[in-house]
Amino acid sequence: MKLRINKASPFARKARILARETGIAGRIEEVETTVSPVTANEDLARENPLVKIPALVTDSEELLYDSSVICEYLDTLHGGRKVFPAAGPQRFAALRRQALTDGILEAAVLCRYELAVRPETLRWKDWVEGQKRKIFGGLGVLEAEADSWSGDFDIGQIGAACVLGYLDFRFADWEWRSRHPRLTAWYKDVSSRPSVAATAPS
Ligand code: BEZ
Repeated sequence: MKLRINKASPFARKARILARETGIAGRIEEVETTVSPVTANEDLARENPLVKIPALVTDSEELLYDSSVICEYLDTLHGGRKVFPAAGPQRFAALRRQALTDGILEAAVLCRYELAVRPETLRWKDWVEGQKRKIFGGLGVLEAEADSWSGDFDIGQIGAACVLGYLDFRFADWEWRSRHPRLTAWYKDVSSRPSVAATAPS
């Protein structure tokens, strides 16, 4: 299988962590791919017309995207503990948390593009503030529930680790830890997992 990734991408990181957690990383060739909102990439566009990573080419040449679909597919390829709980309240809690963390990541990546790619004269401060409200609103929900998270590192928790890692990587000056003590403790603990340590953004 070929997985298009970028070592800075928090969405690709979800799939990279899942592959390591479930013991299938050796079956995946990670292909570092440059993405930009303003530059064409025809190779990537052939695999994902949205020109986003991650994009997966399976062993049977099927094309899969986005990160949530890829993660759910990879989770079918092993016989161990499932990262997507099979059924019931646990499944929907994990899926809801994945939706929340994906939304936070989308807002954070848009901020990154706005603040690092868009020409300074065209930047829109109120728009960035609107995205930050989504990010910190989402973090508030994660903070409120973090104490009740199970010991299973499921897809919702993988998403949370990718959010916090990305904020450290791109927005350290936002100091998310200052208002989120439970997430701070949880993230310190989870950062020592080999899957998380090996995929730290760079
Ligand atoms: C980043 O450099 O922050 C980035 C790279 C790829 C995808 C998303 C974000």
